Amino acid sequence: MLRIGLLGCGTMGKTHAHAYAAIFNAQVVAVCDIRKEQRDDLAHMLDCSAYDCFESMLADQELDILDICLPTYLHKEYAVRAMEKKLHVFCEKPIALSLEDAKVMIDTAKKEHVKLTVGHVLRFFPEYETLKKSIDQGRIGTLRLIRTIRNQAFPPWSWEHWYQDISKSGGPEVDLAIHDYDWILSQLGPVSRVYAKNYGDTKESQMHSLAILRLANGAMAHVEASWAMPKGIEFRTSFELIGTDGQLCYDSSKDSPLKTQLSNNEKVSIFYDNPMPPNLNPYAKELRIFIDAVIQDKPVLVRPEEARAALAVALAVRESSRTGKVVVLKEETV
Ligand SMILES: NC(=O)c1ccc[n+]([C@@H]2O[C@H](COP(=O)([O-])OP(=O)(O)OC[C@H]3O[C@@H](n4cnc5c(N)ncnc54)[C@H](O)[C@@H]3O)[C@@H](O)[C@H]2O)c1
Repeated sequence: MLRIGLLGCGTMGKTHAHAYAAIFNAQVVAVCDIRKEQRDDLAHMLDCSAYDCFESMLADQELDILDICLPTYLHKEYAVRAMEKKLHVFCEKPIALSLEDAKVMIDTAKKEHVKLTVGHVLRFFPEYETLKKSIDQGRIGTLRLIRTIRNQAFPPWSWEHWYQDISKSGGPEVDLAIHDYDWILSQLGPVSRVYAKNYGDTKESQMHSLAILRLANGAMAHVEASWAMPKGIEFRTSFELIGTDGQLCYDSSKDSPLKTQLSNNEKVSIFYDNPMPPNLNPYAKELRIFIDAVIQDKPVLVRPEEARAALAVALAVRESSRTGKVVVLKEETV
């Protein structure tokens, strides 16, 4: 039974804590968060020890894996510290905020002979897995065009509003659209150049990004990612893939088997639920696959080099939005 330490008990820490309920060859033995309520809640739920300091957790516990659910600007520091103590690391996406930091993480994993992976969870969502199968089977012929949308209201929950500070979160390109960049790279290969525009009102927390990617194989992708939706508007993702022989489409707003409408006389609230059995939970799946890779000493499925390549695209998109010019990708993704 592998022993896991969970660092960061905010939104994603909670998501991972629930996901571990569907994993049987590993156990969270300790959680750590600087906020008492967050760490105590998860320690109670998981029946494990709680720490307010990473060093104390490492000193007290014999851990095999550190699961990092910290704000992005802290990923590199804690991943490197853990790997230098010979822990394998599962790090939430994005891997880091700069290509240099990502490289330090990759080099440390190699030097210390530990495994490092990044939570590019889109690959494990059932609709994306089905999509991959269809592409692999050649059902729509040669892929020519992809359109993706990932739109939501600004994430309101974060500790000390770290999402709002682009130097800590990377904005919608690095934080949000990176899901789609990773997916596109993993299915279609390298991106050669990008052209993008963004809208970035950090005061109002309304930020929006629209990018056109040219892939090395000649295909084209439009990637839209937004934190500019009004408060309360539901999170929406969609994709449309167009090949020489057909088209594949998905839209999360049309995929909710259970719709609840509650009336309080003044207004109606609408909720959509898409119940998913625990064995299909994509967060459990990405963690389970990483844990199996550690136990069986196999290569990780989401390689950190791939996470760095997705970051390279995200940073190029930001650069293009800033300069108004096409950005040609260097060797990372070509
Ligand atoms: N894979 C996904 O679908 C997905 C979704 C949302 C966020 N994320 C990523 O997950 C990461 C965490 O995001 P979040 O939304 O959970 O943030 P959050 O603000 O909700 O949680 C971060 C937690 O870290 C704690 N923390 C901060 N500094 C600490 C330290 N030094 N030691 C211990 N605890 C510390 C905070 O108290 C907070 O509870 C980010 O990198 C984000 O981009 C991934």
